[in-house]
Amino acid sequence: MTGFAARLRQATMSEHRDAETRGFIARLIGGTVPPAGFAALTAQYLIVYRELEAAAVTMRGNPVAGDFADPALSRVAALESDLAHLYGPDWEAHVEPVAATRRYAERLREHCHTSPAHFVAHHYVRYLGDLSGGQLVGREVAATYGLDRRGTAFYRFDRIADPKAYKAVYRARLDALELSPGELDVLVNESRLAFTLNAAVFQELGTTYPGNLVPAA
Ligand code: HEM
Repeated sequence: MTGFAARLRQATMSEHRDAETRGFIARLIGGTVPPAGFAALTAQYLIVYRELEAAAVTMRGNPVAGDFADPALSRVAALESDLAHLYGPDWEAHVEPVAATRRYAERLREHCHTSPAHFVAHHYVRYLGDLSGGQLVGREVAATYGLDRRGTAFYRFDRIADPKAYKAVYRARLDALELSPGELDVLVNESRLAFTLNAAVFQELGTTYPGNLVPAA
């Protein structure tokens, strides 16, 4: 890979390594986050994806970013059904943003409806991640918490038969982006910020749900 997709991957590599190896998400894979922590992460994701997918609706007709806004990726319905399973009928009462999620959601709302570069940056960090490491995370949490698809629908993309092929098309789209060099720089910087915003959410949840608790049997 030599195009913009490769540049973007390279530019966010150290942030990615941090996400993979440190803190809350690594503990999630390791099976030491208590069930309430997993449910809280799912609730925070719903707040983030509601913003991101509202922006996707706006961007669907955009000549630069429209192809990224593929409804097959949409996660909101899956997150809502996971929360109904994890919390029961009063699940909506648990959908309260922690401070880091509020900041993340504000950033999405402020920039992703109007700037294709910002939208694609945030889209890339979440959905390409969900189609990559997210697949492993989904399998691990299903095993840790004894969940079947109820509770982990977020991690399954029913409308994407072959995530690997989808990611190849996605990277080709990144390579073909019709943005000026300055706007591509904005996209790279915003992607790094998106990782930081995610890391702050994980950090906050990690403090609330420390790692020395025994996971669900
Ligand atoms: C333990 C957690 C994680 C693991 C094991 C993991 C693993 C991976 C792997 C193996 C890939 C490469 C897939 C490929 O080349 O097709 C990848 C890509 C990616 N991951 Fe993660 N990941 C984790 C967490 C995260 C998080 C928390 C985020 C963002 C919030 C994220 C965002 C991404 C993105 C954007 C890519 C695409 C990189 C590119 O090729 O441009 N990952 N991940």
